[in-house]
Amino acid sequence: MDKIIIHGGRRLEGEVAVSGSKNAALPILISSLLTSEPCVYQGIPQLVDINTALKLLAGLGVVVDKESWVKGGGDIILRPDRVRNFEASYDLVRTMRASFLVLGPLLARFGYAHVSTPGGCAIGTRPVNLHLKGLAEMGATIEQVHGYVEAKAKKLRGAQIYLDLPSVGATENLMMAASLAEGTTVIENAAKEPEIEDLAAALNKMGARVEGAGGDLIRVEGVSSLGGLTHRVIPDRIEAASFVIAGALIGGDVLVTGVRPAHLDAFFIKLKEAGIELSIDANGVRVKGNNTIKSVDVTTLPYPGFPTDMQAQMMVLMSVADGVSVITETIFENRFMHAQELDRMGADIRLEGNRAVVRGVKELSGAPVMATDLRASVSLVLAGLVANGTTEVSRVYHLDRGYEHIEKKFSKLGAAIERVKG
Ligand code: UD1
Repeated sequence: MDKIIIHGGRRLEGEVAVSGSKNAALPILISSLLTSEPCVYQGIPQLVDINTALKLLAGLGVVVDKESWVKGGGDIILRPDRVRNFEASYDLVRTMRASFLVLGPLLARFGYAHVSTPGGCAIGTRPVNLHLKGLAEMGATIEQVHGYVEAKAKKLRGAQIYLDLPSVGATENLMMAASLAEGTTVIENAAKEPEIEDLAAALNKMGARVEGAGGDLIRVEGVSSLGGLTHRVIPDRIEAASFVIAGALIGGDVLVTGVRPAHLDAFFIKLKEAGIELSIDANGVRVKGNNTIKSVDVTTLPYPGFPTDMQAQMMVLMSVADGVSVITETIFENRFMHAQELDRMGADIRLEGNRAVVRGVKELSGAPVMATDLRASVSLVLAGLVANGTTEVSRVYHLDRGYEHIEKKFSKLGAAIERVKG
């Protein structure tokens, strides 16, 4: 298994461009299942999770042209006119939970889907009850047998669906299914993440009638068929914010380009409260490292609140801040696995249920650490960049799921970081 070795303490200087959003790309690639016409997607990041999605789609019978993407060009062409298999296996869904999103589109277009349930994952139990409840309300018959969901519906019909909590995945699955249902579907208490808006934009280019995405209430008027499209995915706000944290931790002067600042409002407000110097304009976000970082309390919330996907990175910043900060995780029940690893690097973090009490220390020191999930792994890289001495991050396959060319991007900014092939 590959490792990432970082010699900490090098100031970061220069410009880094944000890649396309993983969490927008995954549902959008999967939404190609709703049409039989070719779909052209642009700005798709080169990530292991994207490859998993392509494998999943190919297994269903979608013809995948990834030549440009493999060469780093970012384009993927999908031809979904010969879909003949309606099953997503345990192996694929277990590797990547977003695979579960094929359920809605397969059911809506073909009337049948056999999809493995994802099971738990490193950060929590993550059930799919809301996806299933919504589809049942649209008239699907759903049975769970041997770890698989078997869903059938001659024709889905529009329904009024209330989500008990604004689940990103459930909103996406239901929005896709509703696009080909008969009649109008209303999703109340929908997730409002920018990735939902991007999926709605792609669906509407295909001829769907989705209104209100980005707000609490999404209305989808079903249509009888959808067509092909060309769509460029939005930039990855979590990758962008992770680089901004790196700049705040150890930047001389770092410019993160390609970011859409409006997607990161809550995050920027917290950084400013922490005394971080940011200048935000059309060129991107410029961040200057500070000698004194103030401690701030942070609570993760659904969008537009502070993103759970930035909690681990923020914890690193608070680890070297002046004072005590309380970080409260409200989205996932077990998303603090990075805390013990950061403590091994000299941080002072005490966990109390869903709260982490972080006492800022003067400095972190390099150590061998282990990545446990995607965002935890990038937090260890960030800690390694600011720590004294050498940090060795193992299990970096987590990192490769969601950060495109991360060591190259940090090297270009002046970090001493390298990958050792395992
Ligand atoms: C997506 C993101 C992930 C991010 C998360 C929350 C993708 C591919 N992944 O994951 O990076 O951390 O949003 O912003 O876009 N829940 C239920 N029942 C359900 C569905 C969800 O109880 O049917 C719970 C989950 O257990 C979790 C919370 O809702 O505690 C949020 O999950 P959800 O918004 O669905 O996250 P994902 O779509 O899995």
